[in-house]
Amino acid sequence: MFHPFDVEQFLSELEHGVSYNFSESGVHPMTLRELAGMTGLDLEAFMDTLLDYPQVNGFALLRERIASLYAGAGAANVMVTVGATEANTLVANTLLAPGDSMVAFRPIYEQLTGNARNRGVTVRYVEMDPFNSWRIDGAAVAAAVDETTKVVHVINPNNPTGRVLDAAERAAIVSAAQKVGAWIVSDEVYAGTERDTDITTRSFWGDYDKVMVLNSMSKAYGLPGLRLGWLVGPEPEITATWRRHEYAAVAASTLSMKLAEAVLEEPGRNAIVARARSLIRIGFETLTEALAVHPGVFSVTPPQASAMSFVRFDLPVDSDTLARRLHAEKDVLVIPGDKFHVEKHFRFSSALPEAYLREGLRRLNQMVAEILSQA
Ligand SMILES: Cc1ncc(COP(=O)(O)O)c(C=O)c1O
Repeated sequence: MFHPFDVEQFLSELEHGVSYNFSESGVHPMTLRELAGMTGLDLEAFMDTLLDYPQVNGFALLRERIASLYAGAGAANVMVTVGATEANTLVANTLLAPGDSMVAFRPIYEQLTGNARNRGVTVRYVEMDPFNSWRIDGAAVAAAVDETTKVVHVINPNNPTGRVLDAAERAAIVSAAQKVGAWIVSDEVYAGTERDTDITTRSFWGDYDKVMVLNSMSKAYGLPGLRLGWLVGPEPEITATWRRHEYAAVAASTLSMKLAEAVLEEPGRNAIVARARSLIRIGFETLTEALAVHPGVFSVTPPQASAMSFVRFDLPVDSDTLARRLHAEKDVLVIPGDKFHVEKHFRFSSALPEAYLREGLRRLNQMVAEILSQA
């Protein structure tokens, strides 16, 4: 049986054409001109880029720059993919086989888990605690693994909650994976989007020998249109993903890889990450202010990272009805919590231009007033 990717289906059907879109997960994207300005890329010279088939596993310079972000890694530990999206598909096809099981933490962006389920893999979910800042119970992690478990999957920082795992949670995850010899697949696309610190979320790379990390240009770098991501892992498994990449895509695009090389060169890289954090911090303050307009209706565990907030609401409608009414009546798009198996929540992205954000929030509050007056 095929399991569609519910969140992405909802987005691709509704996000284009809506006037106020708060359903995306990244910061306000950059233009090519802004990218050139922040990196010092010579756009005139860039015009001479030869649009040949590029190096299949990624240009060597790009893989070196990616590897330099992970202590002890070299270019041979890196596979360049078409976004973290392709990386998740390659990982599922490389590390998992029908009949295997994997463990994941919910609420979650179901990219790896969905691929796994479509491959005949059983996914065991450990629920994060909504009443305790979305913490993970270490004992529940230990209980979830068994000899069929081939992957323990984390998204850190998490989508949709923005939670960053603490040291105890990380240790529990490593110890559970180690106990059964499972891989840790760590989706770290939100590393660099920290809201309350300038310290980048620590990678799982180096914590344990069976770790595959994935990341991309889409979130901290604000460049989702490049469709450029990567995997970092031990060489044999990286080579195995390369063999699958030849089927899936042959290679990422030449232009995207060249631009990513420029983005990852300091001091441009730092400046681009700082841009994302600034948008995230200002946007969250504006959101918090707007959510206070109707006291008692909204509550949110402040995200430690990411542009997203997973907002709880106390209104006499379910999350799908709220999202669909916002879309139909206010031309505003948010993601209903039921897409993450959590009711009475919606996911809202706020690292956007101030005037746009304020108008969308005004419309959200108008919708709340109308629902309350109709109740
Ligand atoms: C946790 C997570 N992983 C992977 C992706 C895919 O990102 P990319 O744009 O790099 O394909 C997303 C996008 O929303 C995400 O939230």
